Parts: sequence; C-alpha cells; structure tokens
Amino acid sequence: MEKFNESIGFDQRMWSEDVRGSIAFAKANAKAGILTQEECDILVQGLNQVHEEWAAETFEIKPGDEDIHTANERRLTEIVGPVGGKLHTGRSRNDQVATDTRLWTVKAEKEVLNDLKTLLQAGAHVAEENIDILMAGYTHLQPAQPIRYSHWLLSHMAPLVRDAQRLQQMIPRTNQCPLGSGALAGNAFGIDREFLAKELGFDGVTANSLDSVCDRDFVVEFLMWSTMLHTHISQLAEDLIITNMLKGVDMDDAYATGSSLMPQKKNPDALELLRGKAGIALGRAVGLTATLKGLPRAYNKDLQEDKIPLFQAVDTVKDCLAICTGVLLTMQANPEKLKEALCPEMLATDLADYLVRKGVPFRETHHISGACVRLAEEEKIRLDQLTLEQLQNIDARFAEDVMKVWDYEMSVERKSSLGGTARSSVQKQIDDIRVFCESL
Ligand code: ARG
Repeated sequence: MEKFNESIGFDQRMWSEDVRGSIAFAKANAKAGILTQEECDILVQGLNQVHEEWAAETFEIKPGDEDIHTANERRLTEIVGPVGGKLHTGRSRNDQVATDTRLWTVKAEKEVLNDLKTLLQAGAHVAEENIDILMAGYTHLQPAQPIRYSHWLLSHMAPLVRDAQRLQQMIPRTNQCPLGSGALAGNAFGIDREFLAKELGFDGVTANSLDSVCDRDFVVEFLMWSTMLHTHISQLAEDLIITNMLKGVDMDDAYATGSSLMPQKKNPDALELLRGKAGIALGRAVGLTATLKGLPRAYNKDLQEDKIPLFQAVDTVKDCLAICTGVLLTMQANPEKLKEALCPEMLATDLADYLVRKGVPFRETHHISGACVRLAEEEKIRLDQLTLEQLQNIDARFAEDVMKVWDYEMSVERKSSLGGTARSSVQKQIDDIRVFCESL
C-alpha cells in the first residue's frame, strides 16, 4: 500500500515550489501571530537549508517520505527540531499540493511560451530567407494554384501564433493562489491570503476554499492546449514528410536516420515523431478529464494522478518545440524540384480571371477555362501549349495578351490582398510575427 500510495517518485520535481510555499506560509503565520518572529526565522533558515540540499542533490529521500510535502517537512524538523512541527498550522497538504502544482505549472508555461517564441522566430526567418521560392499549392492533395514556399511555411506559423496567444491567456488563470484554503473549509488563524499570493508571485487568490483544493482546471487546460499545439506541429510535420518524399525539401542529416537493412535510406524520423506525439498528448488530456469527471468535493486522492501527465506533457512539448525549431532551421528547400511540381493547369483559374478582367462574368469564364483544359487534355498537350487560334475558337474574347497568363510568378504576385501569397503580403506576415514575438 505504501508503494501504491506514494507520489514522491514523481512529485519531487516540485521540491523548489514546495519550499517556497512553506517559506511564504511561515511568514504569513508570523504575520498572523501564530509564530513568533524568532520561530519564523528559524523555520525560514531551515527551509533554505532544505532548498540547498535539493539544489546540491544531497537531499536524501527516506522510507516513509510519502510525497514531497512530507519529505520536506520531515527534513525541516530534523534540522530545526520540534519547532518544525509548527509550520503546518492551519495548512493541509490539500492546499499545499494545489499551490505547488500551480507554481510549477506557471513556471513551465512561461518556459514553453518562450520556446514557442523561438520556434515562431525561426519560422519567420526561414520564410524570409526563402521568399523567392515558388511551389505547388494543393487542395484535397490535388494540384491547385501556385504559391510561395514561404507562404506555405507561414500557414503553419499562423496556428502557432494562436497557440501562443492562448497560452498567454492561460497563465494569469493558472497563477492564482490556493494557499490558505486549508483542508477544505479555509484557514482558522486569520491568515492573510493576499500576502501569501504576493509573496509567491501569484496574480491573485482563488475564490472558494472547497474548490481551491480540487480545482485541476489549469492542468486539464494545459493538457488540452498541448494537444492543440501537437496537432498543429503534426500537420506541419505531415506536410514536410510529403514534400520531403517529393524531394522538394531535404532534411538535415542531424534530424534523419538510416535503415539497419537498406543502405540508401534516409528517413525523416524527427518529423514522424513530431507527427506521432499528438496522439498520446490527446490521450493525456482525455485521461485526466475522465479522472476528474464525477469526483465529489473536495480533495480526493484521485487528484494525485494529475502530475504524471502534466510533467510528461510539459517535457514532450518542450522537446517537440526544440526539435521542430532545429528541423526548420536546418532543412534545405529545393527550388528546382518545387518548381517541377508546378503545371500550367494550375493557372486555369488565372485563365478564367483573364476574361473576368475583360468584363465576362466569372461563372461564364470558369466554364470557358474548363473547356480549354478539356481541349488540351484531348489534344494531349499542356494547357499553355494551346494556340491563340485554339483559344479563340473556344471564346473570341481571348486576345494576344492571354499568353501572359502562363507565368507562375505573376499569378502569385496578383494575390496581393492581406494574407495572400504575393511577396508583399508574405513579407507583412513575417513582420507581424516578429512584432508579435517582441510583445511576448
Ligand atoms: N501527494 C498528494 C497529491 O499529490 C498530496 C495531497 C495529499 N492529501 C491528502 N489528503 N492525502 O495529491
């Protein structure tokens, strides 16, 4: 049962938060007159020593140390003697663990936000470096219209900007202090919760003691957030796996692996793992949500199950952000191969637009351009190989200047609306990401 019940094996990661929480709690109890200033000083000194032992990796976990809270208190009492027993006055491990976990999560969220910023900056950099390169854009994985390679890359940065915004909004919600909620009913010694919150760098105090000890919304929120982030990274990875297969982009050797059997192989393992991590991420979010569903008020030991998925999620997100940044910064686009995938049929819409500019209704031009595509198919030639005469046989409004339609660069440059694939619109997207990153 001891082995089954303990959490020290994983919650020791919160040793620093636990010590910080205890120092603030000792100070608040001194302020409330529960501890003398001298007792408080002794406790704070002892807690600082506990902190040093963890930092120096000399802290010894003993049998009976059920979790990080009991371990730290046991050690504190060894150092300072019986006065150590005064620290926990009015406190429960219920408000203590909620406090530690929130402090840990806020720190992790800030680090993750910074890693995400690095990825976005890398994306903006790579997009700018490769702004000249054109590629085939697809819908339904069917060739659709020419776009800039940079525009495609930025299409994967836009969701990551939203993820960064969402994470930014989560931090103040997580950063609320539950300490002083006691086991469930509140603190009977007149503790100043605003003071506790301030000491610990929280933005405010939680609203209801009963809720405070069992609220794990912030953990679920991070798990769901990470699922969305992994989903976006997974989509980027999948696009890159396909483009890599078509030789439009080459992965750096550092992010690829060979085969144990086939000597010619270079597999995009980094991308496949980036794609694959999303599944288990969703599992963690679903798993903890199912654990919380139907829990009675207030603290129940089920809640101890929150930390393993939380820690795993943070570790996995950080790994993926770092690897994804490395992949983007080291991969090499192959402009010739990307261009090879362009075909004149992808300009069929431009052909229709040509007549639109001559005043023909689009529904009609769509039909006319379709007839041109069909004729080229029948003649077994490319769309741009139709002669002016053949075009004019389909519609007399085609003139000499129609041949200018067969230009991928011009097609792309016409998409100069905000968010389009023209160079100026792409540059604006890059600039906007940079401004956003500066604001983080
Ligand atoms: N190790 C516990 C957890 O992680 C700490 C809280 C224990 N509280 C209790 N009443 N047993 O949730």
